[in-house]
Order: sequence, then structure tokens, then C-alpha cells
Amino acid sequence: MAESARIANVKQIAILGSTGSIGTSTLDICRRYPERYRVVALAAGRNLDLLLQQCAEWRPAVVSVADEQLADELAQRLRKADVTGIEIAHGSAGTVRVATLPQVDFVVSAIVGVAGLEATYAAVCAGKAVGLANKEAMVAAGELITAAARANHVALLPIDSEHNAIHQCMRGGTPAEVKQIWLTASGGPFRNTPLADFDGITPAQALKHPTWVMGQRITVDSATMLNKGLEIIEACRLFDLPPDKVRVTVHPQSTIHSLVEYVDGSILAQLSVTDMRLPILYALAYPERVPSELTFDLAALSHLDFQQPDFQRFPCLRLAYEAARAGGAHCIALNAADEVAVDAFLRGEMPFTGIARTIERVLELTPSRTPADIAEVLLIDRACRETATQVAADTPVSH
Ligand SMILES: NC(=O)c1ccc[n+]([C@@H]2O[C@H](COP(=O)([O-])OP(=O)(O)OC[C@H]3O[C@@H](n4cnc5c(N)ncnc54)[C@H](OP(=O)(O)O)[C@@H]3O)[C@@H](O)[C@H]2O)c1
Repeated sequence: MAESARIANVKQIAILGSTGSIGTSTLDICRRYPERYRVVALAAGRNLDLLLQQCAEWRPAVVSVADEQLADELAQRLRKADVTGIEIAHGSAGTVRVATLPQVDFVVSAIVGVAGLEATYAAVCAGKAVGLANKEAMVAAGELITAAARANHVALLPIDSEHNAIHQCMRGGTPAEVKQIWLTASGGPFRNTPLADFDGITPAQALKHPTWVMGQRITVDSATMLNKGLEIIEACRLFDLPPDKVRVTVHPQSTIHSLVEYVDGSILAQLSVTDMRLPILYALAYPERVPSELTFDLAALSHLDFQQPDFQRFPCLRLAYEAARAGGAHCIALNAADEVAVDAFLRGEMPFTGIARTIERVLELTPSRTPADIAEVLLIDRACRETATQVAADTPVSH
């Protein structure tokens, strides 16, 4: 292909959460495929050191940080480093600016938590293709996001490895031919820990995931299996399935990333390395597949184990199914209560088992309600956080 034609096909990328685990993996993919992807906008939170390096390397048109003070500091440091010509924005308006920049073709949504919601929704409404890692946005407002995607003919491409695997396996049949889907779960670090020891689990233990290296919140969520719960809701919304058609199987090797079972009895699975760069590359390249070095050594594969999830040891899984069936405000409450409880656990202010107890209590206290728009989602989210903060304050640190 002539160089000029190739340049014309370069996708212009915006990354929300560029300083995080998914954000840096996305940049690594862009670095490896400069003929395909060009980074034009970045949004981060508070990590100015890394963001400064990213600005120097990628020279984006716009960059956004969490607040005005950080924006001023970044401006000063960029001037000192002689990195010029970058528009600096901040706050939720800043992330929305990054997500909706006219020249952007593809937005990678990888801010952690509900903080990524407004910009993800804005990207879809602006007609951008979205690579979706920020599962909390789908949990809190999945129905609104998928409706906007349909209305704007926008592709929502899952980056979460399980949903990415389902997306790939769904290419093997029609939606009506799907009997059910199976999300695989590693089971986290406490799969075999006796229930009696759960109260004594420390943040350092919870932050050691057996198969994946990820940000702090998702790592703790994997240890409680609330992460799988959020993924159940995300899958219902992305693939338009009821909760009872979204099943979970514990697969400690994390080799199969998920499976689709069809009505004729065939089950399609997706296997690959445990490296998030592969689902990111799939999302960026879709509907194409591009060659990569992320190969999987099939010969080294000795066995694949599958177990039923233990709902007693991991009550968050039961709570997530309950929230998925209730929908609306209960899904928002599940996520908001978890964000508050995980923060308290990481600060040493709540025992590990307090996370599920906090979520359960907040779900009980949340009235049923279906939000009509994103503003209402954020209103419910704020109310649930206040409730969760009160519940967390009443939860003793140890027993
Ligand atoms: N990591 C994985 O393997 C993985 C897999 C599947 C799905 N996911 C999902 O992907 C999302 C990101 O996960 P992660 O592991 O990459 O998290 P992470 O490493 O903790 O990174 C989070 C990113 O969000 C940014 N951020 C936080 N609050 C912000 C705010 N108010 N405004 C703007 N940016 C903000 C952070 O910026 P600073 O660091 O600069 O503050 C950072 O860039 C989560 O929703 C997670 O569930 C992750």
C-alpha cells in the first residue's frame, strides 16, 4: 500500500485513563503500530510524572487531568520541559473534551470507576467508536450507553478480556442461536482460603492477583469476586442477555477468557495469553485482525480446570446477580457501595468481609428506580455513596 494511503487510514486515538494499567498497555500497542494508530488526546487523574512523559512522547493535541490545580502544575512543567502546543483541560469537562475532540476516531475508555461515565457516554453520543474497559460505566448506565450507541451507529468494543472473548465467540453464530454465555473467573487469590480466615485478609494479600497485573480497585474486586459480578451486569448490557443466561465458571489458569454456548450444543471458547494488550489490539483493529507477537504456546498447555463458583465464600457474586435482576438503581448502588468499601478496606478502615456486608446493606437501603438520563445516574450514584460511607463508618475494622 502506498505510504499516503496508509497515513489516511491511521486511526486517531483518545485514551481516557492513560496513566493506568489499561492506558499504558494501549500506548504500548500504539507504539508498536505507528502506521495504524496515532494518539491525539489523553486524560488522566493525578499522576503528573507519567503524564508529562506521555505528553513529551506523544505530543497530543489535548490533555486533561483531575482538577485545576493539577492542570496549572502540568502547564508549568510542560513549559519547563519545552513541550508546547498542548491544550490542557481538567475535571469531568476535560475528560469529555478529550473524548469528543473532532479529530478522534476511537476512544479507549479506561478511567477506573464511575468517574469515567460522563466521558464514555459523551464519546458515544459524539459518534466515536469506543473500546470499553471501564466496566463501571456499563454497570451504572449500560442501558443508556447501549441505546445511545444504537442511535448513533457506534461500535462498542469490549476490552475487558471476558467480554472481548465473548465478542469474538459471538462471531460464530447469531444472537438468537446463543443458549448462554460463560464468563471465566480465576477465582482470585482466596479461592482456596478457608472462610474462617477471610476476616483477617489484609490489603497486601488482596492486592496479589494470581494471574493478572491490574489497577488496585479491580484487583481487590477480583479477590471478592465483585469484579465478576460487575462483569455479569456488563455482559447482560453489552450482549442483550438476561442474567440467567450469563453464567460464571471458575477457571484458575485464566487461559480460556470466556465461552459462548450455542443452542445446538457447540461451545466456542477464546484462548490466549493473559496480556491485556491482545483485547486492546482486537478492539482497536476490529473488524480486522492484525498480526502480533502475543502468541500463545498451545504445547505448554497441560490442563484446563473448571469449577462451580462458591457463592458462600464470595457473597458479592450473589449480590451482583440480585442487582442485575433488579436493574436500574440497584446496579448503580452495587458499584458505588463497592467503590466506597474498597477504598475503606485499602485504608485499613474495614475488614475484607466488610466489603460484601456494606454492599448488601446499601442494596437493601436503595429504592427501585430507573434513571432516565446520565444526570439521574450520577445523582443516584452520589446518594448511594453517602449511604455507603455511613454504613462503612458503622462497620468495625476487625472482629
Ligand atoms: N487492568 C486490567 O487488566 C483491566 C482489565 C479489564 C478491565 N479493566 C477496567 O479498566 C478500567 C481501568 O482499570 P486499570 O486497571 O487500568 O486501573 P488503574 O491502573 O487504577 O488506572 C486508572 C486510570 O484512571 C485514571 N483516573 C482515576 N480517576 C480519574 C478521574 N477522576 N479523572 C480522570 N482520570 C482518572 C487514573 O489516573 P491517575 O493514575 O493519573 O490518577 C488512571 O489513569 C477499570 O474500569 C477496570 O475495571 C481493567
